[in-house]
Amino acid sequence: MDHLKVKGGIPLHGTVSASGSKNSALPLLASTILLDGETVLYNVPNLSDISVMIKILNSLGMRVEACPDNQVRIWNEKKIRHIAPYDLVTSMRASFFVAGPILAKTGFAKVPLPGGCLIGSRPIDIHLKGFADLGAEIKLQNGFVELRARKLKAARIYLDFPSVGATENLMMAASLVEGVSYIENAALEPEIDDLADILIKAGAKISGVGTRCIKIEGVPELKGVSHHVIPDRVEAGTLLIAGAITGGDVTVTNLNVDHLEPLIRKLKDCQFGLTIKENTIRVIGKKEFCGATIETLPFPGFPTDLQAQMMAILSVAKGTSIVKETIFENRFMHAYELNRMGADIKIDGNHAFITGVEKLSAAPVKITDLRAGAALILAGLRAEGITVVHGLKHLRRGYQGLPEKLGHLGASVFV
Ligand code: EPZ
Repeated sequence: MDHLKVKGGIPLHGTVSASGSKNSALPLLASTILLDGETVLYNVPNLSDISVMIKILNSLGMRVEACPDNQVRIWNEKKIRHIAPYDLVTSMRASFFVAGPILAKTGFAKVPLPGGCLIGSRPIDIHLKGFADLGAEIKLQNGFVELRARKLKAARIYLDFPSVGATENLMMAASLVEGVSYIENAALEPEIDDLADILIKAGAKISGVGTRCIKIEGVPELKGVSHHVIPDRVEAGTLLIAGAITGGDVTVTNLNVDHLEPLIRKLKDCQFGLTIKENTIRVIGKKEFCGATIETLPFPGFPTDLQAQMMAILSVAKGTSIVKETIFENRFMHAYELNRMGADIKIDGNHAFITGVEKLSAAPVKITDLRAGAALILAGLRAEGITVVHGLKHLRRGYQGLPEKLGHLGASVFV
């Protein structure tokens, strides 16, 4: 079924655990192209995007087994194929993360141009500039990117924007390039740390992760390891907002508090009560709460992937809130769906002006992108009546069992 029905007005109560991070597991899976032998990943979320990446690794000649309890075993024992399959790569932008590893491993990568998506054009120019700095010849034809290098050379790469994907792709590529490479203006997201962790465990010489300049000293080979994927900060944040927007009392466990600092600040700005322990956050909702100002920025700024979810809760906050989206050029589509539920949101360029309303009302709404889908479900949890949310396939890309987790907290969500 491609829609979900959400009954509003039920305060959520209880404890729920965050799953492994989609945006960490995807580059981690891609990195196994570099690692000889067997690698085991734990805490891999069970998502359709993960299945796509597993299919891509299989098509490159690797044996991959998704085991029960969120384990994935990868055997990289044969020669890696150069070409990533068109239909798979164009179905998920993150598949482009295989370009760097294939290039470093084989000297020739032929990867389809990743599709843009509704939130933006999603170019890869920063990735390509970095590959050129490393000595790769680049050819774009028939919808493919061809990267070729007899021998890659160490380089000082400067990213025009701290792109998460470009930082990950280039860090993976440089890890097997003889000499010392630098990635300047690198992204600082926690997923970069997680990727560096597995590469270092496998024998890579990487330092400076978590700063704007990452140093990579190439090594001749990397060996398979076992690795535990970090918690999904976006899913954890979504669950916390679910507790807050319904006026409930929700505890989310198995998360990393440091990765959620920006959201914690904003929920406190809205005057929600938060109790924070080592890997647990409890939020106590309130009937009335304040609005806030949000500007999405590269980490450690407020994450763009929680922008839609915050817009949902700000639509029923007291007063006026402002959301500025600086990462993607078209990430406000959920505003129009929220307005169909009675929200009062006006869009002006990359700003959304939200005037809090007393209540939202159920309406049939459509998911446009993964995080917008979560936002509409959150709004449905608050709205009067039963909201029908269409486009569940987007949700399955990035949330492992969100309806079940919300149901566990007392929500009435049903297909
Ligand atoms: C990652 O995408 C995440 N995806 C996104 O999460 C997240 O929103 C984004 O980082 C920002 O945090 C994964 O990790 C799989 P970027 P990525 O390169 O790497 C522009 C979700 O919902 N740009 O940091 O593609 C780009 O157009 C998804 O889970 C270039 O111009 O993000 C965007 O405006 C959505 N040229 C900005 O930079 C490039 O070569 C940030 O993109 C690369 C990016």
